[in-house]
Amino acid sequence: SNRTFTMIKPDAMADGHAGAILDQIIKAGFKIVAMKQTRLSIEKAGEFYAVHKERPFFGELTEFMSSGPIVAAILEKENAVADFRTLIGATNPANAEEGTIRKRFARSVGENAVHGSDSDENAAIEGNFFFSAFERF
Ligand code: GTP
Ligand code: MG
Repeated sequence: SNRTFTMIKPDAMADGHAGAILDQIIKAGFKIVAMKQTRLSIEKAGEFYAVHKERPFFGELTEFMSSGPIVAAILEKENAVADFRTLIGATNPANAEEGTIRKRFARSVGENAVHGSDSDENAAIEGNFFFSAFERF
């Protein structure tokens, strides 16, 4: 597939980086298929990150992800999933390449500015979580 899913997380929203992050995404060649600003309840955050529910940081993660507004978006580009993960950089910004979105804008490994899907299958699941079929067309 040529699609991936992203969120601008509450830290980057609160720090005023949403515009700069979207600018970097668009300049890297991604087309925005669908986009909205919304906010996750702690229950919805837990549903989104269900694969991590046994991890020690799950409570911190769901509290953080429900702490403020986010921007959710479906992006389109050839090789979207892999290219987007390259663009955002490592989970921990301390290990992220210079110039990546997380290196530029993340606060920490937990509050790391953006989400990017890790597979085509999850990109579709995550896009469906936030957007109706009509919005995803
Ligand atoms: P996502 O794009 O958000 O899925 O990040 P990722 O794929 O680079 O990392 P992963 O899926 O392994 O972890 C999901 C999210 O959990 C990360 O983006 C972080 O926000 C959070 N996380 C991962 N490791 C830690 C940790 O050690 N401590 C805390 N507090 N949060 C973590
Ligand atoms: Mg992940």
